[in-house]
Amino acid sequence: MIHDNTVSVRALAYIGVAVENPDAWLRFATDALGLMRADEADGAGRLRIDQRAWRIAVEKGAANDLAFAGFEVAGAGELVAMRRKLQALGVAVETDDGSLATDRGVTEMIRCTDPAGTRVEIFYGATDRFERPFVSPAGVGGFVTGDQGLGHVVLGGDDIAAMRSFYVDALGFRRSDLIRMEFRGLGKKELEFYHCNPRHHTVALVPLRGPRRIFHFMVQVASIDDVGFALDRVQAAGARITSTLGRHTNDHMISFYAETPGGIEVEYGFGARTVDDAHWTEALHHRPSIWGHRRG
Ligand SMILES: [Fe+2]
Repeated sequence: MIHDNTVSVRALAYIGVAVENPDAWLRFATDALGLMRADEADGAGRLRIDQRAWRIAVEKGAANDLAFAGFEVAGAGELVAMRRKLQALGVAVETDDGSLATDRGVTEMIRCTDPAGTRVEIFYGATDRFERPFVSPAGVGGFVTGDQGLGHVVLGGDDIAAMRSFYVDALGFRRSDLIRMEFRGLGKKELEFYHCNPRHHTVALVPLRGPRRIFHFMVQVASIDDVGFALDRVQAAGARITSTLGRHTNDHMISFYAETPGGIEVEYGFGARTVDDAHWTEALHHRPSIWGHRRG
């Protein structure tokens, strides 16, 4: 086992989803979640939540699942180091000829596949659009991003050791804590939460294969009222609330969960605590939530 902590990803920068009905997904994302359509020049069917040119790409596909996840490193040297580390761990790394980087609007990137089959893109130099300020079409005051990145993704996989090796040993994630819990009627499971910046978890791993590779993705707003307004809009749109309002034991996020068109779940939250590696020590939790989060 190689423990090379000299390079790690800095943040989850973007995700791509493959859904049967991209128009319905985009409409839900803008009207209910309050995300902003990106300029066509930055890619058709893409969404913004901050100054970045885009954060979520919506593509047509039967999977109704995560299509790819993009993690950023600090710069060119870190990308070289990350490629070496991946290769040392036996991960097949594809070099981009520049066409994918152009499509993603990044300076340079490499690509590989995680043990559960998700396409993972690692890059530096994302496009910022400070000249085109983020304005939520639903009036959301702002999403919490910055050095915490897009948000988080919860990923499932049969081979949890392989997933852990990929995200920890290769990408450089550090464990925040564990939740030992009865998971969706499937018995006791240990959910693992990982950070790569102050966000409590950017990636969480579930040790089983669900109906899709992604259990949910999370976006965080800066005001509790924006969670409430979003809940009203999501319910008005007729979307299924998959988890009622609640507060998580580990990151202290107040959030609800809903099903997006096609089935991918979104967590919409506020108020998470952050992680400072200088002071953080791992904890063990036995419930996912302090209150609420009843699954519907
Ligand atoms: Fe979450």
